[in-house]
Amino acid sequence: MVSSVVSADGRLTLSGDQLLLSEEPGRVWRTLQPPSAPAVEQARAALLERLYQPQAVLEGSGTFVTRDTGPVSGLPVADPAQDLHTDFLPDDVAGDPAGQRWFVVVDSRGRVRWSVKSSGGHRLLILVAMATPADYLSFLRQEGIPYLVVGEARVDLGTALDRLVDRLGVTCVVSNAGGELNGALLRAGLVDELQVVVLPALIGGRNTPALFDGAALAPAELPTPLRLLSVHSESDGLLWLRYDVVRVETPA
Ligand SMILES: NC(=O)c1ccc[n+]([C@@H]2O[C@H](COP(=O)([O-])OP(=O)(O)OC[C@H]3O[C@@H](n4cnc5c(N)ncnc54)[C@H](OP(=O)(O)O)[C@@H]3O)[C@@H](O)[C@H]2O)c1
Repeated sequence: MVSSVVSADGRLTLSGDQLLLSEEPGRVWRTLQPPSAPAVEQARAALLERLYQPQAVLEGSGTFVTRDTGPVSGLPVADPAQDLHTDFLPDDVAGDPAGQRWFVVVDSRGRVRWSVKSSGGHRLLILVAMATPADYLSFLRQEGIPYLVVGEARVDLGTALDRLVDRLGVTCVVSNAGGELNGALLRAGLVDELQVVVLPALIGGRNTPALFDGAALAPAELPTPLRLLSVHSESDGLLWLRYDVVRVETPA
């Protein structure tokens, strides 16, 4: 499932290089939220919990670092004799994953230098690939941050979701990601529901991340139809929409 907060024109932030986690863009974004926003957010979280008890929240590295950020530099060099490109699930994780909630971040390039290991009761877990620099994997191990190796050049999202099920018993993942990752999930056919809170504001901008970015539709590919599940509107202009994704087969 994808769950996001967007402007009325579907933008997720103010421009391509402004992270909402940064102070000033975050402050401006909050000014777009009408008074009902906190209560609607609470209702949205409560509904998700009641319907699905999602065990994992998914984010892309783009939530934490700007698009022009490269791999973390200056890390200690990894021991070449150590095979780091295998799943790393420390004993306290592998032993008893039941009941654990996960904050899962896709980062095959190793771009985020983590200083926290959990968020809102969710334990941090990184999705990496065979191409991820060994020094970065060594850093994750030293910090005790679990990771799963799922893909070659970059994270294979379908494999990643399967591995989360198999290794950690995760049955529902909610993507709170930016447009690139949401777009990749959409193209991979991995989105089954959409929840979107629409703020009464316009942002615009050709390169401003939107709800679903990523690859354009191929000529034979069809748009993804939605079936409306519910609409909640507030008099201050906030909308909360829920849709089921309708599966369609792309013609051969
Ligand atoms: N309003 C909101 O609710 C909300 C929520 C989240 C973020 N945001 C904002 O959105 C912006 C970030 O959006 P963004 O689109 O730049 O970043 P993003 O969605 O985080 O996209 C980059 C991430 O997607 C992964 N990715 C992209 N295509 C992929 C594919 N085909 N297969 C596997 N992984 C793929 C990348 O992996 P690799 O690094 O491995 O290539 C990277 O981790 C920030 O400004 C943030 O503040 C807003």
